[in-house]
Amino acid sequence: MILSGKEVSSALRAGLAAQVATFPEKYGRAPHLAVILVGDNPASQIYVRNKAKACESIGITNTTITMPADSTEEAVLAEIKRLNEDSGVDGILVQLPVPKQINTARIIEAIAREKDVDGFHPGNVAALWQKMPCMVPCTPKGIMKLLAHAGVDPKGKRAVVIGRSNIVGLPVAKLLLDANATVTMCHTRTVDLPSITRQAEILVVAAGAAKMVTGDMVSDGCVVIDVGMDHDAEGKLCGDVDYDSVAPKASWITPVPGGVGPMTIACLMENTVEAFLAKQK
Ligand code: GUN
Repeated sequence: MILSGKEVSSALRAGLAAQVATFPEKYGRAPHLAVILVGDNPASQIYVRNKAKACESIGITNTTITMPADSTEEAVLAEIKRLNEDSGVDGILVQLPVPKQINTARIIEAIAREKDVDGFHPGNVAALWQKMPCMVPCTPKGIMKLLAHAGVDPKGKRAVVIGRSNIVGLPVAKLLLDANATVTMCHTRTVDLPSITRQAEILVVAAGAAKMVTGDMVSDGCVVIDVGMDHDAEGKLCGDVDYDSVAPKASWITPVPGGVGPMTIACLMENTVEAFLAKQK
């Protein structure tokens, strides 16, 4: 069965829109998300535009700040400082990757933790790993919502995560562990990967390699979550999972596009609303 992020994210966004519609009367204004885009990476431009569109459809105020590709780290830090100090801004996000003259860690650390709607700030990461209240990163949060929607309780299940990035692999493994799955973390250099993925009841693939998981690597009934956004040999958009050979074996599978991607954006909207509400207390 197809696990449609398009559908689940629409429902989530509709709920947020209804909630946000009550805010001007209750709190005097709508939430405000500021997005910084440095440079002209085409994929980043699309992501940022989609984030702005999602804000508009929900009623969240959006400011997109575009900075030239040769911007200095100091210039980006100055922009972040300005947004940190602006009490009318609830969420701040710097689209990654940033040009190479800019140190990503220093940028992420500079964002005020309470405005870090990506959940990338070291304070948020530490809180997640210590089971403290935190901003949960958007893609892992979206994946957990997709599993819940499919009625898949990770408790007692064998989950395998391929990929160990700060954005997806590491935090999703932690969320699955907290949901009482037994989690195996592996990656593209794992020896005999198929012998491990075949044990998975839940398989999350965030390896960044087009169609790397093939039908022979999954067992019947596996729930397959494809976080990939790649292009195949013909230049067509595809995931990290070879959909055609894996789908017949999977009990649930997320398509690309229309799977995890829309959930990430919907969860970003949810995090922005959370950051806004945390200030209203
Ligand atoms: N680049 C790829 N994914 C993300 C994300 O979730 N947030 C940001 N800021 N940049 C990204």
